Amino acid sequence: MKFSERTGWNTEESELARAHRERVASGAGLPGHPDLLDLTASNPTRCGFSYDEDWLGPLAGSGVGAGALEYDPQPLGLPSAREAVVRYYREHGVEGGNERGTGVAAGRVLLTTSTSEAYGYLFKLLCNAGDEVIVPQPSYPLFDFLADLEMVRIVAAPLIYDHGWQLDLEGLRQRITARTRAVVLVHPNNPTGHFTKVDEARELAALCREHGLALIVDEVFLDYGFGVGAAATDSDGMAASGLMGFGDASSFAGRGLDVLTFVVSGISKICGLPQMKVAWLVASGPGAEEAMARLEVVADTYLSMNAPMQAALPVWLPWRRGIQRQIRERTGRNLAALDGLLGRQEAERRLVSRLDVEAGWYAVLRIWAVQPDEATVRQLLEAGVWVHPGYFFGFGPAGWLVVSLLTPEEEFLRGMELVLEVLGRNQSGYCLGES
Ligand SMILES: Cc1ncc(COP(=O)(O)O)c(C=O)c1O
Repeated sequence: MKFSERTGWNTEESELARAHRERVASGAGLPGHPDLLDLTASNPTRCGFSYDEDWLGPLAGSGVGAGALEYDPQPLGLPSAREAVVRYYREHGVEGGNERGTGVAAGRVLLTTSTSEAYGYLFKLLCNAGDEVIVPQPSYPLFDFLADLEMVRIVAAPLIYDHGWQLDLEGLRQRITARTRAVVLVHPNNPTGHFTKVDEARELAALCREHGLALIVDEVFLDYGFGVGAAATDSDGMAASGLMGFGDASSFAGRGLDVLTFVVSGISKICGLPQMKVAWLVASGPGAEEAMARLEVVADTYLSMNAPMQAALPVWLPWRRGIQRQIRERTGRNLAALDGLLGRQEAERRLVSRLDVEAGWYAVLRIWAVQPDEATVRQLLEAGVWVHPGYFFGFGPAGWLVVSLLTPEEEFLRGMELVLEVLGRNQSGYCLGES
């Protein structure tokens, strides 16, 4: 039997995954078991947030869910659900669509079961086999797989960290080839938690225009800015660190960039409902109309959206505020606790520092690059705390850990104390070794 080359991944369990599985199987780390502290949590439904039982109401036979008994195959998704997405952007200060193709109108919204599916559709739309898409990294680790499956090649462009994260526009320009079709931004980025600033976006758009590239912008974490602020955003108030200016935390759907732009988002993060499988893409800018006509054929080929979820979306999206408030309080308190802990390190024996973060569910930790991070993560696992090595996200092999701020607060604090304890023991070992 012959299978496609692009699915010829090495699916053997990695050493690290095996170590984690065995650690969990040994009895530690079972739900509620205090032994393995999980600083990689990404599933909000397992992090102790309270979801009102009403959340399932729209799926029941009464209320809006009743509409789900009828099958109305609409490739772009049900108009009522797409209108709910338009309202979400309006609440972010984004106007309804206009004839120049800017703003968000229901005709420019396509519903998908996940952002992964949206990426699949976009790569089908924009790329022939062997074409390239540029992604500034460190970033979301799934892009390579999503691209492989569409026969597309991801080309990494550097992000620069210098008092906050920035695009290296010259570095990005150098990576453009005759095969480049698009640039993907994650805004705010995962795991670095930075927003792409208005000026950077303008320059990037000019570059895309010059080379005929589309811009794909993943905004699943848009509503999770830290601080209160300057940006035109949700009425709950969010965003803007000291480095940020007005509009930096705003959606690309409203930036009016003169380039074909696809904003990708969904309720896995916006409503903390990853299990419900509703996402979307929004097209704007020159060429959006033709793009939507082509995407409609792609979506019509799969018709993957189911009726109950679409019927529920207009109810769920307005309910996001309650769960977002809980998540923002959690991530904010964990960040403060982390800073409190790191601030207590002796200046001359500083083991860990935290990189600036403007948004999102993660913190990036800089540690001494004295051994591969894989070895450090193994040590931490043996000690009882599970964290991500930075290389998962495209950081170098040594010096970076990524921790989730979604983890329940007590577990987070104990986990971080353990991280510092283990790294402290390591450092004492190195210092003794040196003397
Ligand atoms: C940047 C980014 N985009 C998308 C997703 C997942 O979205 P979905 O559940 O809609 O596929 C994640 C999940 O962690 C993410 O980090």
